[in-house]
Amino acid sequence: MRLFVAVDLDERARRQATAAMVRLRRHCEEASRDFAHILRWVPPDKLHLTLHFLGEVDSARLPALRAALAAPLMLRAFDLSLGAPGVFPLSGPARVVWLDVAAGAGELSALHAELGARLREHRFELEQRSFAPHLTLARLKSPPPTDLAWLIQSAVIEPVAPWRVDHVTLYRSQLSAAGSLYGAVLRMELAP
Ligand code: 2AM
Repeated sequence: MRLFVAVDLDERARRQATAAMVRLRRHCEEASRDFAHILRWVPPDKLHLTLHFLGEVDSARLPALRAALAAPLMLRAFDLSLGAPGVFPLSGPARVVWLDVAAGAGELSALHAELGARLREHRFELEQRSFAPHLTLARLKSPPPTDLAWLIQSAVIEPVAPWRVDHVTLYRSQLSAAGSLYGAVLRMELAP
């Protein structure tokens, strides 16, 4: 099964991130109608910040995964807020549109490191590249017709106000014709 560990948004943060997404979508489609076909926006109920993407994991490895994630997290609950929009990769044709993390990036990176250490200890293979905290809003199906980085950065959006991150979730992602379906497998609480 395809698994990833993510931070969830609370309902207010989800509403505000969705408002930012709607605004960015309008901004892009006003610049070029092509963006209506090229950008695939994340459904609001699927918004999350990925901490670790485990990829395909054999179900026989689930006990090891549960063991890796069983002990309480050392890190305390913290506040996270989101700010400016941007694109990945930073050079070359854009593939992902995101919001960056404003407050709480240090804590989020610490959480990424704590989970990463535990997962590697149990021999799960993780991404080698450095962690870039972000909330994915859209993915591109093909290269953009104009400089999307400039366009996205010129949009005026309201930031997403801080919400309390008090847990992380292990998700299973099932690919289907209608897009991927996410199901929570395990929830881990941060220290109070
Ligand atoms: P991102 O959108 O936060 O960058 C669930 O599929 C999540 O896992 C996605 O939201 C994505 O994180 C991350 N993900 C999906 N496929 C991936 C891949 N091949 N490599 C790394 N991360 C991936």
